[in-house]
Amino acid sequence: MKGVILAGGLGTRLYPLTKVTNKHLLPVYNKPMIYYPIETIVKTGIQELLIVTGGNDAGHFLRLLGNGKEFGLRRINYTYQQGEGGIADALSLAELFCGGEKLCVVLGDNIIEKDVIHAAQAFERQEKGAKLLLKEIPDPKRFGVPVFEGDRIIRIEEKPKRPRSRYAVTGIYFYDSRVFEIIRTLKPSGRGELEITDVNNAYIERGEMTWEVLDGWWTDAGTLDSLLLAGDLVSGKGGSHST
Ligand code: DAU
Repeated sequence: MKGVILAGGLGTRLYPLTKVTNKHLLPVYNKPMIYYPIETIVKTGIQELLIVTGGNDAGHFLRLLGNGKEFGLRRINYTYQQGEGGIADALSLAELFCGGEKLCVVLGDNIIEKDVIHAAQAFERQEKGAKLLLKEIPDPKRFGVPVFEGDRIIRIEEKPKRPRSRYAVTGIYFYDSRVFEIIRTLKPSGRGELEITDVNNAYIERGEMTWEVLDGWWTDAGTLDSLLLAGDLVSGKGGSHST
């Protein structure tokens, strides 16, 4: 299995912090934001990582991360997303790198307390399809939210006004290499992006999606409030769950 971190996008929700740097290079307590998803991937035992960057400051990633030796990676590959076409658009750039293997995809602003080793091992054994990690939080409406029938997910709703469960879909996904065929079938959403939720719904329709609940706290760091919360959680001074 190979790792992909999606760190494109323009970070407009954090403006002016992101006026002269990339969101994923901002500090979260004592480290740049992107260190956390890299550590999540390294802990699963994955050795090869692709980072998808974007915006004006892509060269800074190379200066910061080099060839990945410091993290124990065999190598880091880099690619560049033009514009802000959405998470699935950023992922489409990983097709050559993937080379037919399974992928662990982590959004560059997702930070977790523990690890996803169990899910990664379970996905290695899964014959095909995809796997999601969910986290129960008080108000999941700014995330993807699963709709359940019993313990089966029947669809994901992206940022629903009235969430149909108390779970958020975290930004840690496992896919087989057919994800790229699915991305090619997508149409841009109302916000003009190729949505990762549409990718996940395609796997759900095929009956090929599994899921687990993530252990420990989880947050993104893509809004001013969640960036602050992320720093508190990492430093041990914060609450016990995501906002
Ligand atoms: O954090 C988990 C949530 O992430 C999921 O629950 C949602 O289903 C999913 O759509 C996503 O929601 P956000 O609206 O929070 O995603 P955002 O636009 O903030 O992008 C998250 C990361 O994805 C960002 O840090 C970098 C990467 N990204 C995003 C876009 C739009 C890219 O690499 N390229 C892009 O064009």
